[in-house]
Amino acid sequence: MADKPILLLTRKLPEDVEARAVRDYDAILNNSDAQMRANDLIKGSKGVDAILTCSTEHFSAEVIENLAPSVKALATFSVGFEHIDVDAAKKRGLIATNTPDVLTDATADLTILLMLGATRRAYEWGRTIRQGKWGRWIATEKLGTDVNGKALGVYGMGRIGRAVAQRARGFGMEIHYHNRSRLTPELELGATYYADADAMLGQVDVLSINCPSTPETEKFLNADRIVMMKDGAIVLNSARGSIIVDDALIAALESGKLAAAGLDVFDGEPKLDPRYLTLENTFLMPHVGSATLETRNAMGFRALDNLDAIFAGREPGDRIA
Ligand code: 8YV
Repeated sequence: MADKPILLLTRKLPEDVEARAVRDYDAILNNSDAQMRANDLIKGSKGVDAILTCSTEHFSAEVIENLAPSVKALATFSVGFEHIDVDAAKKRGLIATNTPDVLTDATADLTILLMLGATRRAYEWGRTIRQGKWGRWIATEKLGTDVNGKALGVYGMGRIGRAVAQRARGFGMEIHYHNRSRLTPELELGATYYADADAMLGQVDVLSINCPSTPETEKFLNADRIVMMKDGAIVLNSARGSIIVDDALIAALESGKLAAAGLDVFDGEPKLDPRYLTLENTFLMPHVGSATLETRNAMGFRALDNLDAIFAGREPGDRIA
């Protein structure tokens, strides 16, 4: 039997994923789970046939150019791939893949958690009970807002955006969206399309950011656009922190222009702007959109399916380079 391909896993992955990697590859595991920096990746690639990475490792053009010549494939355990310089990968002939689809439901569920957390003031109420401050009942205390009958604006109506819209319909919300191209009627399901995202902003009560991070979407939600939004609107972000200008969002949350924000992702994470932590009207999660056992297993298996295809001489299902 031919030797198994040598596969470097840059981070620790769920047990069943690592077990399959060890079964089918000569796998180099990262048992300490330390994040690998540029030099670690370059050194670690020596003699390796493929790399299974996470979004915590940055494959810049420089790293890609300096990977050992033996490296043929780079599979990321994520749907987002802004941590990989795709042009550099193509130039070097490195096949790269991601893991779409399998985390759509988990991320959409988390987005609904952000929406309900923000609209129902879950941070404040959770703190009340944990601090033993649950006192007498007061009819007017810390009232949230209903989502039923409200308008949800989805910025980025890809797989995750559509799954958020599907769930929001179940909550009685009206769906509005912006996407680079209009969806077919079967996918749109009666949602209102805006070719110009700015035109949508003043029409919605809740804005959910669900687009990938690209030069076009970066810093989309800035001070000028927040001014266009309804007073008291709510912002959700389960996509990437880079799409929001933190100074602008924080100023709007402080002034009350925006009622609340539900955020799972932050610019520069895991370091986030500390002002978010002191605001009462934020519901915050530490980038856990895909953090269920089923989903993380499915992401790992999908990444391995892609690598299996590459080493069997087939086209991988999720090629990004
Ligand atoms: C992942 C994500 O958990 O897949 C993505 O793009 O943002 C997350 O759900 C993370 O990136 C793992 O590498």
